[in-house]
Amino acid sequence: MISIAIDGPAGAGKSSLARAAARELGFCYVDTGALYRTIALHLLRQQVDVEQCADWDAVLKDLKVSIGFVDGTQHVYLNGEDVSELIRTPEVSMMASASSAKPPVRAFLLEMQRQLSREQNVLMDGRDIGTVVLPDATVKIFLTASPQVRAKRRYQELIEKGQQVSYEDVYNDLIQRDYQDSHREIAPLKPAEDSAIVDTSDLSLEDSLALLLKTIRERMDRA
Ligand code: DC
Repeated sequence: MISIAIDGPAGAGKSSLARAAARELGFCYVDTGALYRTIALHLLRQQVDVEQCADWDAVLKDLKVSIGFVDGTQHVYLNGEDVSELIRTPEVSMMASASSAKPPVRAFLLEMQRQLSREQNVLMDGRDIGTVVLPDATVKIFLTASPQVRAKRRYQELIEKGQQVSYEDVYNDLIQRDYQDSHREIAPLKPAEDSAIVDTSDLSLEDSLALLLKTIRERMDRA
């Protein structure tokens, strides 16, 4: 099986670019952030204080996270409920970032992600795909952009969805998430040593996709 790992910070355009690249290459697109978000939604609903939690086994015991594809689009299920839309809020983003620093939460999802890569050719995006989840991935990409550009893109995305947010809040949340994601002890966000860095700060979505596909194809030819 061929696997393509795409890691990078929040708002680098990962999900839209990864989805489009996967479609172009005929690979199954797996958005691992959605899995962490699904757990985060569960934790919010259960009102779990992640910093104080002493019994993760109990919290995760009855939790079932699954993934399905509807017309080629990934949907995520929390104990059977389709929560694909509910996980796209700033509150869930922050909780996903905080809870994903906890080793039991990462362990809960690790095997599931690896299993997906054994079943089909995947293009998987996240924070630790090239470093931890699929260290032998065929191609590893680190997709990034400046914090200002990423915040602007995320802000526009949320506004288009009708959410009431300010640019300042989106920017501050993003900086906090960057810090949390890259400073946690377990599986921190960082480029894998053998990854290609793709910076989309000055590129349109179309040009970013072209650069991403070119980089992936070059690396696949070399593999
Ligand atoms: O990609 P995203 O914004 O949907 O991810 C939400 C959070 O989940 C992110 O802040 C960190 C965490 N995450 C992670 O720790 N590891 C991954 N492979 C994917 C996401």
